[in-house]
Amino acid sequence: MFSRWSIQLKYSLIFILTLALIIAGLFIGIYTLKTNQLRNEAMASAEQVLAFRAWVANTGVVWVDHLAPNFPDYLGKRISSNSSMEFFSKNPALATRELSEIVSKTATRATFRVTSDEYRNPANAPDPFESTSIQAFKADSNLKYKDTFENDFYRYSQPIFVKQSCLKCHGDPKDAPADVIAKYGDKRAFGYKVGDVRGIISVKLPDVTLADVLLTFLNPYTIGLIALAFLLNFLFTQGAIIKRLKALALTTERIAKGELDLLLRDNPGSRDEVDTVRHAIDLLRNSVVVAMKRLQKNLS
Ligand code: HEC
Repeated sequence: MFSRWSIQLKYSLIFILTLALIIAGLFIGIYTLKTNQLRNEAMASAEQVLAFRAWVANTGVVWVDHLAPNFPDYLGKRISSNSSMEFFSKNPALATRELSEIVSKTATRATFRVTSDEYRNPANAPDPFESTSIQAFKADSNLKYKDTFENDFYRYSQPIFVKQSCLKCHGDPKDAPADVIAKYGDKRAFGYKVGDVRGIISVKLPDVTLADVLLTFLNPYTIGLIALAFLLNFLFTQGAIIKRLKALALTTERIAKGELDLLLRDNPGSRDEVDTVRHAIDLLRNSVVVAMKRLQKNLS
């Protein structure tokens, strides 16, 4: 079937195939880049949250002098000695949860939460991806992060390790602030040691879809460059090969029909494969001329 096709058609197909292979390679590259990009974005977000938590944990809890309407949760409550003011404490996990809610309402793409296999607050219960991450971090202390794609989201998690400042509320229940015992009892999330995996910070980002990637290719520059590549290839195959081969075939036919003096010349100075064929035809023609002259001499 291919043997009947013109060079132009065969070459165009090879060109399109080449282009498709290059684009496939590009897509694989873009997908790797995309994952790296999402991972970096998630990691940056996680590090900021961890820094914020460390700040709260280092001060123990933060005390606020009133509760914002959207954030009524608190750990403990104190009333000033003259009873004129009330103060409420927010522990690190609580402050982080409120930060997470504030951030999720901004234009930031990343949303995050803190969760643990041994959670005190039901609102912090892990989902399947988070549970498997926690188990993986507990099993391998060198594991820095876990990530996956789930539906249209990129999911990332990073372990939270117990530090000295955490032990006050996650070490021995006897040392724990009364507020913690009063709110969550003395059973859950105690008995940790420095260096233990206490939980994870879990970050979620909208995935970059195939449609997004395709759309980035649909811009005038990319389309223009691809069109230019097609044009250059067309001009080359037509101008440098096909037209010259056709002309050569025509002249050779005329020589065969008897116009033995016809000149076989195209681009002066050109020395490519078409010229080699032309040269071979020239030699053949000369042999024919010589042979004919000999024949004529013999006849006369
Ligand atoms: C002032 C006491 C206090 C300190 C200090 C403290 N925590 Fe907590 N932590 C809590 C309480 C209370 C909760 C209960 C959940 C909530 O408030 O959301 C909690 C919850 C958590 C959770 C979420 C899972 C859950 O139990 O619901 C993680 C993870 C966590 N803490 C890790 C840490 C780490 C790591 C540190 C040290 C950097 C730390 N905590 C310091 C009191 C504390």
